[in-house]
Amino acid sequence: FLMAAPYIRAINQLKKERNAVILAHNYMTPDIFHGISDVVGDSLQLAIEAAKVEADVIVQGGVHFMAETSKILSPDKIVLMPDMEAGCSLAESITPAGIEEMRRKFPGAPVVTYVNTTAEVKAASDICCTSSNAVQIVEALEADTVIMTPDQYLAQNVAQRVKNKRIVWWEGSCIVHEQYTAQDINEFREWNPGTVVIAHPECPPSVVEASDFSGSTSGIIKYVTDNKPEKAMLVTECSMASNIADALPEVDFVGPCNMCPYMKKITLEKVLYSLHTMTTQIEVDPAVAEGARVAVQRMIDMSK
Ligand code: 13P
Ligand code: SF4
Repeated sequence: FLMAAPYIRAINQLKKERNAVILAHNYMTPDIFHGISDVVGDSLQLAIEAAKVEADVIVQGGVHFMAETSKILSPDKIVLMPDMEAGCSLAESITPAGIEEMRRKFPGAPVVTYVNTTAEVKAASDICCTSSNAVQIVEALEADTVIMTPDQYLAQNVAQRVKNKRIVWWEGSCIVHEQYTAQDINEFREWNPGTVVIAHPECPPSVVEASDFSGSTSGIIKYVTDNKPEKAMLVTECSMASNIADALPEVDFVGPCNMCPYMKKITLEKVLYSLHTMTTQIEVDPAVAEGARVAVQRMIDMSK
């Protein structure tokens, strides 16, 4: 943090000059999460906040699909992406052609698409979801069969909870969460009795089943904050535990974590450069943006 201090000061000063706000995902490193962010949250919270921003500029502390979503919901704002290479294995796993392929295979079934996708893919879908509202949205749809893209594990975890619908899925996965196994968790519990295990629903269902709780990144933070377990294993991205550890000294965060190489591309240096040069500005083709906005707004309206 000592090394970070001059960057944090410079960014916070430049934010005022540019009338900018920083929307940061829970996977940002603590220097970004605590030092320069105006809003932190999970994907749903960030989308809701992006639609309400009053500043002229949004700097996205997160990956490319999040910046696109901000632009779609706040088209008259400048949305800055500090590193255009901050992608996502889920977003890369599907194109609009994949959505059409699923529609051909399952005619008439609505397409529920995770926000971890490009604007084009969102525009080709009926409604979006995040990990915090996927069950709620699938339950609310009046259909016997529901197509979920692109995260096979989120879809399978939803299928475990929504028993009266047939859920079919695309075969995408998150490179961070697919690495965990139920065996890892069970072995860890043997060595560390009393550990409360909390898994993100991008993990395979066997991992979620072996855990005590599953939720979105903000759901995980809320669970740990409310329950204050003596020992907690967060089966998700590494920055999660780092970001909340100081506020929860009574909780011992244990166990291995996995790093998201895309999220970690966003650094203080790149945020400063981005605000200084006002680059790279996110642009979304207006027709695509309108289609994607409909799918995202439907999700926001159904999450109220
Ligand atoms: P949430 O913050 O919505 O749980 O999403 C997690 C994630 O992997 C975002 O890339
Ligand atoms: Fe994508 Fe997974 Fe990284 Fe989130 S953690 S940005 S889902 S690769």
